[in-house]
Parts: sequence; structure tokens; C-alpha cells
Amino acid sequence: MDRPSDNLSDSGAVKRKRTRWALLFVLLLLFSLGAFSGSYIYTMKIDAEEERVQYESELWELGFELSKLQRENRDLMEANHNLREQLEEEMQYVDSLMLRLERVTGEVETIRRLEKIDPELLKKYSKVYFLNENYQPSGLVEIPERFLPPDKDEEYFHEEAWPFLLDLLEAAEDDGIDPRIVSGYRSFEEQMELKTRYSVIYGDGANRFSADQGYSEHQLGTAVDLSTKALGGALWGFENTDFYSWLKENAHKYGFVISYPEGNPSYIFEPWHWRFVGVKLATEVHNRGKYFYDLDQREIDEYRLYLFDR
Ligand code: DAL
Ligand code: ZN
Repeated sequence: MDRPSDNLSDSGAVKRKRTRWALLFVLLLLFSLGAFSGSYIYTMKIDAEEERVQYESELWELGFELSKLQRENRDLMEANHNLREQLEEEMQYVDSLMLRLERVTGEVETIRRLEKIDPELLKKYSKVYFLNENYQPSGLVEIPERFLPPDKDEEYFHEEAWPFLLDLLEAAEDDGIDPRIVSGYRSFEEQMELKTRYSVIYGDGANRFSADQGYSEHQLGTAVDLSTKALGGALWGFENTDFYSWLKENAHKYGFVISYPEGNPSYIFEPWHWRFVGVKLATEVHNRGKYFYDLDQREIDEYRLYLFDR
């Protein structure tokens, strides 16, 4: 028979045994947990290290790529700069070609215009330069009868210069003058007949007021002898008319100049004889207080291009 104290010590031993097992279990559990955590942390660390190494390597590759791209970018920029410089040079060359082309086109245009303008129309004829017997103006128009003196049937004037003369005559009319044209175009033969007639009457004296055939501005068709209705179409006394005063002030605006002013070395003073030389040259001569025959032929020729300009 068991003693109660024996039973008591048995149950105490069982309890202790259980407690020991429980402790052991807890210890084992803790150990396993520790081992597991340790291994987990270790694995994580390895993974993190591998990841870091991988990132570093990727970063290095990216850095390498970046510097390669930067190099390529620099090369491209340099190439771009060179191309731009080349382009600018090409553009400058094209510009200079365009300028040359414009100049040449302008020169060609000038030559074309000059070809159409009779060079004889600006030559000095008074005993200096000669027109042969075949010379005729490119075109002539008949001067309207209302501008002729009663004893004249017909007179002609240079076709291209006529609009300028008509403007002059009408402007003079507007200012209360009654202009008349005594003489316009004269052919080589007409001048010869006239000079012969004068020479018969005045002998050598005719050379003071009448040109030899070929030397008269009248053969050009651009010279006129002017008078007024009041003067009855006469030439003598023209210097005292309002028309002469008006011409001195205004003729240049229509391209006309006096050929033989007082004191000229070629002929007597011919206030009635006016010649068309173009508005530009006539205005230049007027503004400089000079006469047509005062200028060098070379300077006069520079105005040929503008002869029929308004
Ligand atoms: N009366 C001028 C000079 C001429 O005959 O042409
Ligand atoms: Zn004349």
C-alpha cells in the first residue's frame, strides 16, 4: 500500500518531468526559431549583397552608356556646328552669286535700253560732230497746225521726243503764251538748200547763224526754232518775248535746253533754238547754270540712258 507521501512525491516528480519536457520543448522551439531567423537573415543578406552587386554593375554599365552617349552628343554637336558653318559659307556664296546675277541682269537691261536709244541724239553738232546724209530720226510726227505760223504747211518732230514738246507747248499755253514752231526736223538736203540760200545772200556771214549740212541739230529731229503768234512766227526779237523768259525758267522741266546762248563760240545768240536732251540732263544743266555745249561729250553720254525718262 502506497503511502500518501509517496503519492505526493510521485505526482511532484511527474510535474517536474513535465516541466522539464516543456522547458526543453520551449528551448528547442527557441533554438529552432533562432536558427531559422539566423538562416533567414543570412539568406536575406546574401540576396541583398547580390542585389547590390547587380545594381552596382548595372549602374556602372549605365554610367558607361551615359559617357558614350555624351561623347556621341559632343561629336554630333561638333558635326552640327561644322555643318552650320559650311551652310553659312554656302549661303554667303549664294548671296554673292545673286548679287552678281542682279548686277549682270541690270547691266544687260541697261545695254538693252541703251540699244534702243539713238546715240546721235546727245552728240554736239555745232562744228564738232558730223551726221551723214543718210541719217534720219527713228520716227517723226507731224506737228499740229495750231502750233505753226500761218506761212508754214507742215513741220515734223522726233516721234519719241514729241510728247515732251507737246507738254511744253501746252504748259506755255496754260501760262498765257501762244507758242509757234517755225522749224523742226530738217533733212540733210533741206539743210544744204537752206545754207546755200543763206550763203548766196549773206556770203560767209551765213556761217554765223546757219550750220552746214550734217552739222545741224535740226537733222536729229529733236531741235526746234520757236516763236509766238504775236511775233508772227518771226525769229528776230524772240529774246524780248514772254515765251523766251518762260523757256529760260521752265524748258528744262520738259527736257529742253538752249543750244546757242549769248556769247557761245559757235553761232550768234539764238534764243529761239531749243533742243531736247531729256529731263535729267536738261535739269542738271539748268541747275548748274551751265549750257549743253559747256559739258564734255563723255559726261553728256552718261545721260543717254535717261533720255526719254520723265
Ligand atoms: N541755226 C542753227 C545753227 C542751225 O542751222 O542748225
Ligand atoms: Zn534752229
